[in-house]
Amino acid sequence: MTTAEHMDSLQSFRIRDSDIFLVTYPKSGTIWTQNIITLICESDLQHNSDVSNNLKKMPWLEFPEGHADYSSRPSPRLFTSHLPPRLMPPELKGKKAKIVYVRRNPKDNVVSYFHFCHAWTTLETPKSFEEFLQQYLAGDVAGSSWFDHVREWYTHRHQYDILFLTYEHMILDLRSAVEKISKFLGRDLSEAALCDIVEKTTFKNMKKDPKANYEFLPEDLLQKGQFMRKGMFGDWKNTFTVAQNEMFDQIYQEKMKDLPFTFTWE
Ligand code: A3P
Repeated sequence: MTTAEHMDSLQSFRIRDSDIFLVTYPKSGTIWTQNIITLICESDLQHNSDVSNNLKKMPWLEFPEGHADYSSRPSPRLFTSHLPPRLMPPELKGKKAKIVYVRRNPKDNVVSYFHFCHAWTTLETPKSFEEFLQQYLAGDVAGSSWFDHVREWYTHRHQYDILFLTYEHMILDLRSAVEKISKFLGRDLSEAALCDIVEKTTFKNMKKDPKANYEFLPEDLLQKGQFMRKGMFGDWKNTFTVAQNEMFDQIYQEKMKDLPFTFTWE
């Protein structure tokens, strides 16, 4: 979905002060947060020629649809990305643009990713959850290692103007997550606008919204509705065996012990 030339070109990508980036490891609530950000910025997007869906409003930086020329896009430009810091445009380090980073507890993340591999046709279909879990732990999946991704963005945080959120916090208190994002982006929302965005971005309502739920993608790429699967946390318990959970906890502890993260696991 990308080329070496495009990835190289990101090294000289000119950042604008008004640019907004959403960065996630895959399956962490990307299209959910993308929907929240596009709704917060809706009035800013009127000048864009094609805003027919969220992919057009907030394209993936690393997947240039039709080799789009983003330099001619009106401000504010919104971008989505799964890239680690070292592959992002270096000008971002000047804290010019704003970055929203969402992380999700890796047990639910790996289960979500496992199901997604069955739906996204260009990803290899895992033979079993056990096989996929091993690949995930080794970072041998698209997007590389969850552990490296969250660590690198966190440890480089001082170089960026970045807001960290968790998927679990968004589930537990969507209203406060929307408020946090809008404040960070410098957009004052009226009470009515805030309630409207919260309403539109609940799992139930987003699942019905064809501009936001990615059902607009062709079925030879994605089986219908597969971005919106369960939309909850703690569901890993229905997939992990006791032994897999113990092994995961041990690896998580080894790899993350120096980071001050707490996740709500169930
Ligand atoms: P599950 O597969 O666990 O259901 P991404 O957009 O990064 O690919 O993440 C997809 C995950 O986010 C899926 O998780 C999906 O159901 C969940 N998701 C998408 N929209 C959501 C919403 N409005 N509320 C809660 N979860 C949502």
